[in-house]
Amino acid sequence: MIESPKGVKDILPQDELYWDFFEEIVKKAAKDFEFSRIRTPIFEKTELFSRGVGKRTNLVLKEMYSFKTKGGDALTLRPEGTAAVMRSYIENGMKSQVQPVKLFYLGPFFRHERPQHLRQRQFHQVGFETIGLGPSVVDAELVQVAYAILTKMQLEGFEFQINSLGDSACRPAYLKKIQEYFKTHQRSLCGDCKKSISARPLNIFECAQEKCLHIARVAPKMIDELCEQCHTHFKELLEFLDELEIPYALNPFIVRGLDYYTRTVFEIWLATGEGKFSPSALGGGGRYDGLSVELGGGEIPASGFALGVERILSVLREKEVAITANGKTKKFIFLAQLGFLAKKRSLKLFSNLLKEGIPVVASFARDSLSAQLRIADKADTEYALILGEKELFDRSIILRNMKTGNQEILEMKNLIPELKNRLNI
Ligand code: HAM
Repeated sequence: MIESPKGVKDILPQDELYWDFFEEIVKKAAKDFEFSRIRTPIFEKTELFSRGVGKRTNLVLKEMYSFKTKGGDALTLRPEGTAAVMRSYIENGMKSQVQPVKLFYLGPFFRHERPQHLRQRQFHQVGFETIGLGPSVVDAELVQVAYAILTKMQLEGFEFQINSLGDSACRPAYLKKIQEYFKTHQRSLCGDCKKSISARPLNIFECAQEKCLHIARVAPKMIDELCEQCHTHFKELLEFLDELEIPYALNPFIVRGLDYYTRTVFEIWLATGEGKFSPSALGGGGRYDGLSVELGGGEIPASGFALGVERILSVLREKEVAITANGKTKKFIFLAQLGFLAKKRSLKLFSNLLKEGIPVVASFARDSLSAQLRIADKADTEYALILGEKELFDRSIILRNMKTGNQEILEMKNLIPELKNRLNI
């Protein structure tokens, strides 16, 4: 038997309600905050990521699905969305539109990582990018969008972990400073961190080993070394977030693995109790004012974030959040029928209910009432409607509460208003 490749998963029909729920909330937020959808290709030139994300990042060095085509082009399955959105902005002359240009995307991404719970090789992200203007309020609005999406999904206990990485005016001097600091402690660092000192000293802040974190904890922090402009930008951002009453924590250890970030960076963490957080971030983002220069588009300020769809859906499932989507809700009505005449009448009733926007399912191929009710039960329906020959004759229908098993008889002529009332439609 041929199985799916390691690290990828089917999204099965029973998952669809969750995906619809997610997409509906994202699209509504995009509409409310005026972001337009962009769909960039699944693969791009490898150079886009090596230049955009940074050729010494883990993402580019270890995690890309890269290949050569028969024609000799070096291509890569997109490991993230920001570089491609910026490429598209530059390539399609979006600079001439009213700024900022606000774009969102939703789709699959590919990273060759060690598969584990909530870490897949094909996963989905929804991302929001605001390109063309650079004030701190843009960053605040992006945090606000992420916050609006997650709260609409009834997610609780998440927190924005925020930091500033400075910019080209203040970061180089800071990097030198921590290189010197880590050099004086290099004997106590792990092998990877030793190597990072000269190339990417910020990586040490994200090392998984306690001995390295112990040293990193007392290292100089970027936030104390910001230049005046970066400091003001950060201060204003925090003031906006306070005003919006969005829960955040300052975290100097958030350095992000991608090279394009300047100033604001953040991750969204989920609390697991007792002041601890899940190790898998639900999302992350930040400002990336230097990316477009790397891609040959000149100076274009930009900021954005992306959420991991599978990670968020997994939390919704764990927390048993009640979801509704697409006019479909978990409060399905199941229409059961008994006898040939009732089956005939039920077909018509089924389409009438749908026309009225009532979420109904049925299993017309089954005759036995108990088999139909078993399906109703499995589908997690709230009510079953039962139409038999007696009810046909009386112009009535039985309404059975699937949780309690209580049954009542409704007059057929009152059925639709009665259901709408009970389902709050
Ligand atoms: P990222 O932090 O690499 O940022 O990814 C964003 C989110 O995607 C993560 O927080 C996580 O929820 C999800 N994710 C990443 N890798 C995996 C995986 N292997 N399996 C499951 N979920 C995963 C970016 O990609 C940036 N482009 C975000 C951004 C947008 N920055 C500015 N604009």
